[in-house]
Amino acid sequence: MKRALIIMGSHKRHGNTHDLVSYLVEALFERDIQSDVLDINQLAIQHCLDCGHCTKHYASCVIADDMKKVYNAFKQANYIIFASPVYFNGVTSKLKTLVDRCQMIFMCHFSHSKSFRTLPGKGAIISIAGAEAYPDQFLGSENSLGLVFKNLDMPLAYHMKLSGTDNCAVLDREVDIREALAEMISALEA
Ligand SMILES: Cc1cc2nc3c(=O)[nH]c(=O)nc-3n(C[C@H](O)[C@H](O)[C@H](O)COP(=O)(O)O)c2cc1C
Repeated sequence: MKRALIIMGSHKRHGNTHDLVSYLVEALFERDIQSDVLDINQLAIQHCLDCGHCTKHYASCVIADDMKKVYNAFKQANYIIFASPVYFNGVTSKLKTLVDRCQMIFMCHFSHSKSFRTLPGKGAIISIAGAEAYPDQFLGSENSLGLVFKNLDMPLAYHMKLSGTDNCAVLDREVDIREALAEMISALEA
């Protein structure tokens, strides 16, 4: 059975992103894919200190916190999906803290010429924005999370972009969302 790791990046425990992730877990189950959800609010993750440890030591970070769980989950997943609200055209600050701790993964390639992961896999992004669509609304999120996938050696298979939650919440557009999620899972499995 394939495994999908979902990082729920919203600061709100029962907001739009949380609701969408619930639909995603159901959609993955219907396709025989196991979901492992990590809620950013339940992870204690410190900021990257730029201490240089990972430059000298392959795949090693000095900070002993919940990022260890995330690194392990990154290794075991066939698919990784980041789901985040758009905050100032980027991801939430809690998710950005997790992203910065992926510097250790960057260093695997950059300083040690080795991959962090051995398993082949693909990545996807789900971005949820309050305003109606405008240029660059999702650019920051895609740049940042796209770089994480590059360092994980996982192609970005799909970016689901949902605008306008201020006027129409995720729960009020269930049919469209289930369709988009099915498309996303197909892109991951292709
Ligand atoms: C701090 C903050 C910054 C935000 N920045 C943007 C933004 O730049 N563009 C946008 O369209 N919506 C923005 N929003 C709206 C959220 O993306 C939107 O409310 C989203 O549905 C929140 O998801 P959640 O319910 O999972 O928390 C912002 C909201 C907050 C609280």
